[in-house]
Amino acid sequence: MPYREIKLPKALLFLEPGPVTLISTFDGHKNNVMTISWTMPIDFDGRLVLCTGPWNLSFKTMLKTKECVICIPAEDMLEKAVRIGDISGTVCDKFAHFGLKALPAKTVKAPLIAGCQACLECRVEGTVPRYNLVVLKVQRVVADKSKASGRLWHARGDGTFTLDGKEINLSRLMKDKLPPGL
Ligand SMILES: Cc1cc2nc3c(=O)[nH]c(=O)nc-3n(C[C@H](O)[C@H](O)[C@H](O)COP(=O)(O)O)c2cc1C
Repeated sequence: MPYREIKLPKALLFLEPGPVTLISTFDGHKNNVMTISWTMPIDFDGRLVLCTGPWNLSFKTMLKTKECVICIPAEDMLEKAVRIGDISGTVCDKFAHFGLKALPAKTVKAPLIAGCQACLECRVEGTVPRYNLVVLKVQRVVADKSKASGRLWHARGDGTFTLDGKEINLSRLMKDKLPPGL
């Protein structure tokens, strides 16, 4: 199924749970992708931070181009995501190596990755070098309904992972805390 644009506030549904993500970049010549599990939303207007630094090629590209795309892997993509996070774009073309299909984004030159649950086109707004934080703002969100199960992968920190399980809807208890549009 093709990606379809969804409302910007929906970005939070993919970021708040802190899933394993794929971050795509384009340096002007080549697409690249890394895996990131350290992400955190910081407001209701689409801002978030990633924790990464100059030891990764993607970080350097993000700072140079001021943009990236956060892709949310589909349920069947975990092993690929882990392999992507175990090799650097300095030594291979990860899109070719892992058979990833790059699709054009609208607001950034970094590509969407086909087959993901959703892709969030982002601009880099700033950095907090002392803590290796990159501040991003989501510009546009697309999702593939056939892949967007809403069940996200989470890293536990020791090489084991969990996929979201039971859902409990307590939104009635926190109506005053929920942003409009969700
Ligand atoms: C499950 C997983 C989670 C990861 N999370 C992060 C992260 O939060 N921050 C980070 O800097 N690197 C993280 N990495 C490591 C990078 O993905 C890895 O260093 C990658 O090779 C960088 O690629 P690049 O040099 O092409 O940018 C993670 C790797 C895996 C497998």
